[in-house]
Amino acid sequence: MRAVDIIIKKRQKGELSREEIKFFVDGFTHGDIPDYQVSAWAMAVLLNGMTPRETTDLTLAMAHSGEILDLSGVVDIAMDKHSSGGVGDKTTLVVLPIVVACGLPVGKMSGRGLGFSGGTLDKLESIPGYRVNLTTDEFKQQLKRDGIVLTGQSLDLAPADGKLYALRDVTGTVQSIPLIASSIMCKKIAAGAQAIVLDVKVGNGAFMETLAEAHCLANLMKDIGKLAGREVVTLISDMNQPLGEAVGNSLEVVEAIDTLHNRGPADFREHCLRVSATMLVLGKRASHLDAGRHMAESAIASGAAFEKFRILVHSQGGDVAFVDDPGKFPQANYIKVIKARRSGYLSQVNARLVGEAAVTLGAGRARKDDLVDHAVGFIIQRKVGARVEEEDILFTIHANDSAKLAEALEAIRPAFAWSDQPVEVIPLFYN
Ligand code: URA
Repeated sequence: MRAVDIIIKKRQKGELSREEIKFFVDGFTHGDIPDYQVSAWAMAVLLNGMTPRETTDLTLAMAHSGEILDLSGVVDIAMDKHSSGGVGDKTTLVVLPIVVACGLPVGKMSGRGLGFSGGTLDKLESIPGYRVNLTTDEFKQQLKRDGIVLTGQSLDLAPADGKLYALRDVTGTVQSIPLIASSIMCKKIAAGAQAIVLDVKVGNGAFMETLAEAHCLANLMKDIGKLAGREVVTLISDMNQPLGEAVGNSLEVVEAIDTLHNRGPADFREHCLRVSATMLVLGKRASHLDAGRHMAESAIASGAAFEKFRILVHSQGGDVAFVDDPGKFPQANYIKVIKARRSGYLSQVNARLVGEAAVTLGAGRARKDDLVDHAVGFIIQRKVGARVEEEDILFTIHANDSAKLAEALEAIRPAFAWSDQPVEVIPLFYN
């Protein structure tokens, strides 16, 4: 078999066999197939697609490119959740402590930010000392002891995805439904998940921009789960505007802590309750969604969920003083309140433009090796549907550099659109 023939076959819209897919995945995992051939193949897949059978074979080949974690003996049901990525999405920081407080242990491996879309690891690293590089043994020990783990993807799990993902990021091949589905599912399978809640984001701040694409991705991941013997429940949620108010790493951690104290923004809290309830039902801790929601609300109200977050931070070496007193997080040099220049109803707060403006401030990376500035970002006080009067606060910008502040302000302005007529609030979920 030759890599070039497999690339040509896909370029000509052919259907690759299981053997061809395995040959290709093994080849690039071991460095026998060079990056330029992998990139050409990824572009052919992006342009010509893959059948569900090819996508499943790709997923399993990538999952088996490294170790497969076995969590039997550690937890009764290996539960996981995954969001397909968005702006202001700090859900994991709240949902994990909630469900763990409700008796459902979860060990999760999360990722870094990608382009305009934030990443849980970058957010967690704003807590001084927090370790995101646990070994597999540390992962298992902590999961057994505390019931909660939140760390980075181990290098031993699905190494093929690590390599392919880095190439896709710089070759314009992220936005392919089969490549996204296989990338997400191979990591879940390799991490030993038996039951998975997938939060597929849709909108201008997500990889899937239309509902049809989001349904297609959700159904494909469900099919892959079925073929791999895993239980998968999918939610489809809005990402046309940022989730909650905070966008930027430590700002989002503070909002997550507020939410665990029963104070966070209403939309974000509601989103977390729905995801938590879905996990509690799938994990057999609640008999139906209303019961799961009630359990989740009680875990917040009693302080049990916040206590689990403290335990998580402490176990992973983070300074709990920051969790107890979020005022300790370093503030940006410039904190500027931006007021509305007119009255009206907000008809758009474009999540992608907000995410890109946050990257301009330094909250994300323009290049792979860039360092993230944890203190910068936005608090978006007004969302779609709000009635705003001239001079009302619209948003607050946190910047460490005056030139970047000016650039980010230019970039975020077009995110806001107005109407003179009342505008409907955007739904949180579409299923
Ligand atoms: N998240 C992933 O893990 N992979 C993708 O391809 C896109 C989002």
